[in-house]
Amino acid sequence: MGAFRSPWLRPAFEAVDREVFAPEMFWGYDTDDDGRHLVLNKAADEDGWRRTVWNAHRSLIMQMNDAVGPEQGPFKGDFSSSISALDIVFEKLNQLEVEAGHKVLHIGTASGYDSALLCEGVGSANLTTIEFDPVLAAWGAKNLEGAGYSPTAICGDGLDGWAPTAPYDRVIATAAVRSIPRQWIEQSKEGAIILAPFNTLYARGGLLKLQVREGTASGRFVGGACYMWMRSHRPEHRINPGDESRKEASPIDPDEILGRGWVLDFTMGLYLPDVSFAHRGEGESRQVQLWDRSGTSVAIVNYGDWWGDNSVTLYGSRNLWGELVHAYSAWRNVGQPHYTRYGLTVDSAGEHLWLDEPSNVIRS
Ligand SMILES: C[S@@+](CC[C@H](N)C(=O)[O-])C[C@H]1O[C@@H](n2cnc3c(N)ncnc32)[C@H](O)[C@@H]1O
Repeated sequence: MGAFRSPWLRPAFEAVDREVFAPEMFWGYDTDDDGRHLVLNKAADEDGWRRTVWNAHRSLIMQMNDAVGPEQGPFKGDFSSSISALDIVFEKLNQLEVEAGHKVLHIGTASGYDSALLCEGVGSANLTTIEFDPVLAAWGAKNLEGAGYSPTAICGDGLDGWAPTAPYDRVIATAAVRSIPRQWIEQSKEGAIILAPFNTLYARGGLLKLQVREGTASGRFVGGACYMWMRSHRPEHRINPGDESRKEASPIDPDEILGRGWVLDFTMGLYLPDVSFAHRGEGESRQVQLWDRSGTSVAIVNYGDWWGDNSVTLYGSRNLWGELVHAYSAWRNVGQPHYTRYGLTVDSAGEHLWLDEPSNVIRS
């Protein structure tokens, strides 16, 4: 589990029993031949259940498609609630730099496990925790009460923050955003830290750590944190190009930009946060498709003959392949920095991406 840099974390992890917060049944990562996730049931296999609960790298999936629970049996769907894996719970609480007596806002209560850890750190009276789903909110609150914790537990949309118990020293999200809500900043004290998993439509899974000063939040991406989306931040994935298209050549082999791993994908997503991509086809007919949020601008690039005059097909007003090639060149021109050298400033004018220093703005 790594070193305990924040001294409060060791006694907190010792005091909170993860098994008390884990449901009797949850889905694991193993799937059957139809791709359905298999259920771990404490009553049927207590050892297997316990091994998974304590596996530092495994989250315990307890809801899919916003409604389906593991009592339904093997299931294939979109994960909508889980108990996060121990390693990322630990990393995030460490990054939060919590001190005794801090007032903390936690968004994404679910089981209540990391709310309980936070109660150990700051005291129940100083924690407000919010869960969107009413069934999960009631279950999380019950778990917390049963384990002896009494934070302010709210069922609501955490993107609005929670004004009645503001201002906060720390705001921590355990679901991913694609922009930082103004309310979180407005409900923060001077010097507060906001820590949130941050996704772009291009690539998921960054961890953003901001500090609030005079109504502006600014800070870097400090690592990776793959979380499910905040419910209203989920992408819609509309693809709706018109009939008119144009063709052009690609200045670059798509393999140079795509398929090189998460670090480059995440970095490109910082430059092009509203562009999604997906691959289709195989071998010589493999293509990458990019589309913008409206779904009207689309680019399709052939891998097999990428050097040909007509390898790129474009729809709509934007040239998304040109934009991606431009972002890649811009990144190369500044020395191919790691994504942790990038940061975000959020002020009343919007979000500004910077490299190394907030004054070195790359995108506004
Ligand atoms: C990965 S789970 C959180 C895990 C939790 N911290 C635990 O230890 O059990 C993410 C949770 O965020 C909740 N959520 C998603 N969008 C939300 C929102 N806008 N406001 C509050 N909760 C939200 C989901 O319903 C889900 O239960």
